[in-house]
Amino acid sequence: MLAVQRLWPSPPLDDLDDAALAEHYAWPDGPAVPYVRVNFVTSLDGAVTVDGRSGGLGSAADKAVFHLLRELADVVLVGAGTVRAERYNGVQRATRGRDTPPPIAVITGTADLDPASRLFTDTVVPPLVLTLHSAPRERREAVAAAGGELVVLPRLTPDAVLAELGRRGLVRILCEGGPSLLGALEAADAVDELCLTMSPLLVAGDAGRIARGSPGSPARRMTLVGALLADDALLLRYRRPPAAAATDPGRPA
Ligand SMILES: NC(=O)c1ccc[n+]([C@@H]2O[C@H](COP(=O)([O-])OP(=O)(O)OC[C@H]3O[C@@H](n4cnc5c(N)ncnc54)[C@H](OP(=O)(O)O)[C@@H]3O)[C@@H](O)[C@H]2O)c1
Repeated sequence: MLAVQRLWPSPPLDDLDDAALAEHYAWPDGPAVPYVRVNFVTSLDGAVTVDGRSGGLGSAADKAVFHLLRELADVVLVGAGTVRAERYNGVQRATRGRDTPPPIAVITGTADLDPASRLFTDTVVPPLVLTLHSAPRERREAVAAAGGELVVLPRLTPDAVLAELGRRGLVRILCEGGPSLLGALEAADAVDELCLTMSPLLVAGDAGRIARGSPGSPARRMTLVGALLADDALLLRYRRPPAAAATDPGRPA
């Protein structure tokens, strides 16, 4: 049995069950506009992968939260680099009164996705493949033949992608990376929430960090809204601060 302890918000709680975990990760109430929740796992020393994949960083609790966050979302947004590196499959379960699980939406300017991969073969709903006219025609055709829904956009900037998902009513957006996509979202100030698992591991090697690219983007303050402890891993939840926080004299600068 997975022992998950809630450290924050107070009061601390022991042995969170599935319902309490879902409550801990409930989406904020609010207008139906795109809200981007990002989920990553990292080692204590900041590595985003072990041997090129994130799986070596995971734990039972991290995996449970990974699946829970998928089930709570309207759509799972991911960069093509992650799909190419990981054995990426669709969301398996429908929850929250839905008939079908949320789709995966892959951002790829090249449409360079393996039609035989689990993205297409191991999924209940077809993945959305957000791409450009400039992607080679044969690749776009291969994606469509594999069952992907091609969505050709004029550009793949965060604002264009989020607008397209919002137009489809997919406003609870769970982004599963990778680092290039997170860097682009940060540069566009499009990250509303970061769920970050800190695995109790030190990882030698030259793995990168969770966000990459976009030098010159300003540092942005986030607010801790949740912290869980499970088997020495910390599962942190940070949100964009409410606008009022900047003027709250009780908050540290
Ligand atoms: N630790 C974790 O939680 C975690 C999570 C996710 C991934 N990872 C790891 O991260 C690595 C992959 O990361 P990555 O940075 O190479 O790839 P990525 O961010 O998953 O995908 C980058 C790709 O997305 C497409 N793209 C299109 N428009 C983009 C835009 N505006 N911004 C960013 N990307 C855009 C491009 O695909 P095209 O080249 O097809 O045009 C680009 O090459 C893998 O090793 C994976 O295991 C770790």
